[in-house]
Amino acid sequence: MVGVAGFEPATPTSRTWCATRLRYTPTGAGLITAAPLNASATTGKALTVELATKALAADAAGIADTARCLAAGGLAAFPTETVYGLGADAGNGEAVARLYAAKGRPAFNPLIAHVADLAAARRVGQFNADAEKLAAAFWPGPLTLVLPKQPDCGVSDLALAGLDSVAIRIPAHPVANALLAVVGRPVVAPSANRSGHVSPTTAAHVLGDLSGRIDFVLDGGPCTVGVESTIVSCLGEPTLLRPGGLAREDIERALGHALALAATPDDDAPIAPGMLSSHYAPKAAVRLNAVSPRAGEALLAFGKAPAHSGATLNLSSRGDLVEAAANLFSHLRALDASGAPHIAVMTIPHEGLGEAINDRLARAAAPKP
Ligand code: TXA
Ligand code: MG
Repeated sequence: MVGVAGFEPATPTSRTWCATRLRYTPTGAGLITAAPLNASATTGKALTVELATKALAADAAGIADTARCLAAGGLAAFPTETVYGLGADAGNGEAVARLYAAKGRPAFNPLIAHVADLAAARRVGQFNADAEKLAAAFWPGPLTLVLPKQPDCGVSDLALAGLDSVAIRIPAHPVANALLAVVGRPVVAPSANRSGHVSPTTAAHVLGDLSGRIDFVLDGGPCTVGVESTIVSCLGEPTLLRPGGLAREDIERALGHALALAATPDDDAPIAPGMLSSHYAPKAAVRLNAVSPRAGEALLAFGKAPAHSGATLNLSSRGDLVEAAANLFSHLRALDASGAPHIAVMTIPHEGLGEAINDRLARAAAPKP
């Protein structure tokens, strides 16, 4: 972190700073903080300065500042050929939690990991023959591949929404590519709009939705494709998960056969929600709003935890919802792996990121099909 005259962060080496603390000084661009995304986390100890989101020219200096911002846990929007993405360091769970908060997402959907080249993509996901074919034909470009994740894929559990698969894309936009090359690790980037709004194709659209909630927008002019990438799962038979900027016919021609179509919950014959590939479900039965854990249960705590002899993990002992979101899926997985048949979960406040945490917990607690 870059030092600021007269200001010493309480824990300069930790990543637990909250959005209301000064945390980053780009060269010549003044003090930057994100908006107070989690007002309850304000300690009063740190000086708080709120500035509007800064638009940066997409030149070498702007790209370098944006890369430094992302590496420091900040949020920055950047152009891709499809739509503007809201970037965060994929491996930084708390930055990813702030990203969901900035978008106002009611739920944690898994995010796309953006990388600069095929070598970087191979460090994130495992390619089978179909994936190799599609990558060779269409990357860089408006295609996202869902692949089994590599063991050390560099994408946080929160960005993966707890899944064992990962969505990867190499954008075909010189600014996005330069930025990803400088950052040197995966950057998650959903479309840079408030949840429920249309995807942005100019920096002005991004500012209209997110000004004051993110650090920077890198202005690379209008996007040429204008709709999101096409998403193809290569977990089994190649399957179209989302139509987008690359036509299905082009993909089928490259594969030499038709794509399977994903069943969606809206189909006439819906597949059970627990079977949807985009929902992580623990094996253990999950009991919500637990006040005291019972014998044989593992405990997923929040805030002050009651004494318990079984496996216990705390989402955030200081009651910080950003920290809790960052820990959610990894803690659920770890408690599931402890072998306990039941996981008791303490009450999570239904405010800020608590809404999305409770959405995911409710899915985890839903009866198994
Ligand atoms: O064009 C795009 O793809 C843009 C630009 C910024 O790259 N990004 C984008 O991201 O549209 P987003 O977060 O709005 O959409 C990501 C989609 C979601 O529908 C999510 O469910 C799906 O990708 N997804 C991500 N990981 C997945 C996984 N492991 N399995 C299935 N679906 C996944
Ligand atoms: Mg979107």
